[in-house]
Amino acid sequence: MVAEPSHIAGYLVLSPAAAPGDGQTLAREVLAGLTERPKRLSSRWFYDDVGSELFARICAQPEYYVTRTELQILTTHRADIAALAAGDGAPLDVVDLGAGDGSKTRVLLEHLLSCGHAPRYVPIDISHGAMRDLVARTRAALPTLEVHGLVAEYVEGIAHLTRQAAPRRKLVVFLGSTIGNFRADDARALLTRVREACADGDLLLVGFDLKKDPHVLFRAYNDAAGVAAAFNQNLLHRLNRELGTDFDVERFRHYGGYDVRSATVESFLCSTEAQVVHCSSLATSFDFAAWEPIVIEHSHKFTLAEVDELVGACGLLVERLLLDDARWFLDALLRVRGAR
Ligand code: TRP
Repeated sequence: MVAEPSHIAGYLVLSPAAAPGDGQTLAREVLAGLTERPKRLSSRWFYDDVGSELFARICAQPEYYVTRTELQILTTHRADIAALAAGDGAPLDVVDLGAGDGSKTRVLLEHLLSCGHAPRYVPIDISHGAMRDLVARTRAALPTLEVHGLVAEYVEGIAHLTRQAAPRRKLVVFLGSTIGNFRADDARALLTRVREACADGDLLLVGFDLKKDPHVLFRAYNDAAGVAAAFNQNLLHRLNRELGTDFDVERFRHYGGYDVRSATVESFLCSTEAQVVHCSSLATSFDFAAWEPIVIEHSHKFTLAEVDELVGACGLLVERLLLDDARWFLDALLRVRGAR
């Protein structure tokens, strides 16, 4: 496939991990993860093109309250967010970390455009397919909007932005509950990196899923239609496709459990029986005992005090705490102070 130049495609492909055929990082991590006890696979591998599509379907499930709750928060507060971001009218980049289908950020972009601003949209996503669709849809719906997508992992995408010649004012949005998928130290490191890529006065809008009824949380990660299960099992299909493993996916059962003490949903794929999985590209095999789990994701649920502590430790000032009426979800609007 011949790549289109980025100004025609509307995006640039930075990440080698995003290019099909380069399975080296994937192979290395899978080998390390499946040799650990308990076995682990990182959730960063969920979002290939199929995974991104399945995730968009999770967002539409009645049990997964995260997306519609956040959409409601952004719709309610879009004028306030846009006014703070537009500030004195300097050129603005809206950077969307893990943009996915971009539907939530669209609310903010539409509002900025309707107020006469001309932001540039910089979605960053690891899935090439999701980026292609996002750019095409955004251009069709908002033809006057300048779109500069990056197919990259977060850290790479952020590093690319810092290398740009004339930095513009930034609103960096990191929506959904992804920050909760990082361990505390990693979350701090990531937000600090984002802050370092920003200038004094730039804004960050970060989603935090809050502690709530454990039954609500359990259902959100175990929807009745089985989309969360299919999404998690896609990880094994992906390894079969890209690494030549022979996972019999039906013999791995999805389970998402909420641990009330750590306020964390942990997702597992459990081997329904003793079995051996071979991997041709690594020339090795992995033994599974009956009901042995692979730990695949961790999704922490925050208190407001934890959010306060985290953002303070990253050198960010709280500008607004935007909540829904039930206080299930928080979008924190944060300002960078003294980054440069
Ligand atoms: N990262 C998101 C979250 O923690 C989305 C997500 C990942 C998810 N895996 C999931 C949602 C499984 C439902 C089920 O919420």
